[in-house]
Amino acid sequence: MIPAVLPTYNRAPLTFERGEGSWLIAEDGRRYLDMGAGIAVNALGHANPALTKALTEQAQKVWHLSNLYRIPEQERLAAMLVEKTFADTVFFTNSGTEAAELVVKMARKHWHDAGQPDRTRILTFEGAFHGRSSAAIAAAGSEKMTKGFGPLLPGFTQLAWGDHEALDRAIRAPDVAAVLVEPIQGEGGIRPMPDVCLKGLRDLCDETGVLMILDEVQCGVGRTGRLFAHEWAGVSPDIMMVAKGIGGGFPLGAVLAIEDAARAMTVGTHGSTYGGNPLACAVGAAVMDIVGDDTFLSEVRRKSGLFRQGLEGLVAAHPDVFEGVRGSGLMLGLKCKVAPADLVKAGYEQGLLTVPAADNVVRLLPPLNIGDEDIAEALRRLDKAAGSLKAA
Ligand SMILES: Cc1ncc(COP(=O)(O)O)c(C=O)c1O
Repeated sequence: MIPAVLPTYNRAPLTFERGEGSWLIAEDGRRYLDMGAGIAVNALGHANPALTKALTEQAQKVWHLSNLYRIPEQERLAAMLVEKTFADTVFFTNSGTEAAELVVKMARKHWHDAGQPDRTRILTFEGAFHGRSSAAIAAAGSEKMTKGFGPLLPGFTQLAWGDHEALDRAIRAPDVAAVLVEPIQGEGGIRPMPDVCLKGLRDLCDETGVLMILDEVQCGVGRTGRLFAHEWAGVSPDIMMVAKGIGGGFPLGAVLAIEDAARAMTVGTHGSTYGGNPLACAVGAAVMDIVGDDTFLSEVRRKSGLFRQGLEGLVAAHPDVFEGVRGSGLMLGLKCKVAPADLVKAGYEQGLLTVPAADNVVRLLPPLNIGDEDIAEALRRLDKAAGSLKAA
C-alpha cells in the first residue's frame, strides 16, 4: 500500500526532534553533527537565536499579506539585496524551483518585448539542477529527471560542462535568449565553473546580447565565502536565482535582476500568493544582516581553509575511499572511490550527516557559522566513517 507520504524520497531511518547550531538531536537523544544543513539551507545553523527572534516577533505582528498591498519587510529585504549585489530589482518566491520558473519567463519576455519573440531558447549544462517543475526539469534535461514526464517544455539545449567550443557555437544561434548556469553545480557533484570560464561566458553574453542567468540557489548567500559565488570571478549576471540559505531554513527564494533584463515584467505578468510574505522576509533580512557582513564572510573563508586542509589529510589517509576534495568555501565535496551512499550511511553510524551528489561525490555543506571545534569533530567522524568502509 502506498504510504501516506508520497514516497518520492528514499529516506534514511532517522527522525530528528530538535536542532542546536550545527547539531541535530534524534528522538532517541543521539546527537548528529549536521554537515548537510538541510542541503545548504540552514546557513546559520539550527534554532539560531537571531532568526528565531525575527520570526517570532514578526509572527506576533502579521503572518500573511497579499501582494495587493505594500509589504514593508519585503521592501526592506529587497533594498538590502539591491544594495549588496549587481541587481536593480528583486521578485520573491518560496523556493528555488519557483525562481527557475520566473527566470525562464523573464528571459523570454525580455526578448518578446524587444521585438525578437523568436529568441526563446535557453542554454543550460549537463549535470545541472534547477528544481523539479516542468520548466526546471526541461532545463536540466537529464533522463533521470525527465523520463515519463513528457511532453517537455520546449526551448532548452544542454551543453557539455567545460566544452567551450560548443558554447561558443550554440550561443550565436539567433533563437538564443539566455544561458542558465550554476557557478558551482551542487546536485551535479560540486563541480565549479572556473572563474576564467565564467568571465568568458560573460564576454560571450556581452558580445551576443544573450542574457546571463546564474543559479545561485545552492552556492549563494555566503556559501563560498563571498555573498554570491560569481563575485570570485569579478563578473555579474543579468539575472540570478537565489533560495535555500537566504531564508536560513524558512522557505524563501528570489530572482534578482538588472533593470534592462527585468523591465518587461510589468504589472500582471507574474505573481505569487506567498512570495515575499512578511514572515519569510523578516527572517531573510535577519540572515542578510549576518551573512552580508564582511567579517562574517572572511570567517567563512578561514573556516573553509581549515576544513579543506583537514579533508585533504583524510584523502591522503584513505586513498582507497577518497579521490580528492573539490568546491569552494563551505560548499565542499569529497570525490569518492566508493559509492557515496555507502559513505553517507557510514557517517550515520558515526553521528555525522552528509549529502550524496552525482559524479561520485559526497557533499559537505555545514552551517556557515560552524565552530572550529565542530569542524575538527566532523573530520574525526569522517575519518572513522571512511575507516569503517575500508574494514568492511
Ligand atoms: C542549484 C539549485 N537550483 C534550484 C534548486 C531548486 O530549489 P528548491 O528545492 O528550493 O525548489 C536547487 C535545489 O536543490 C538547487 O540546488
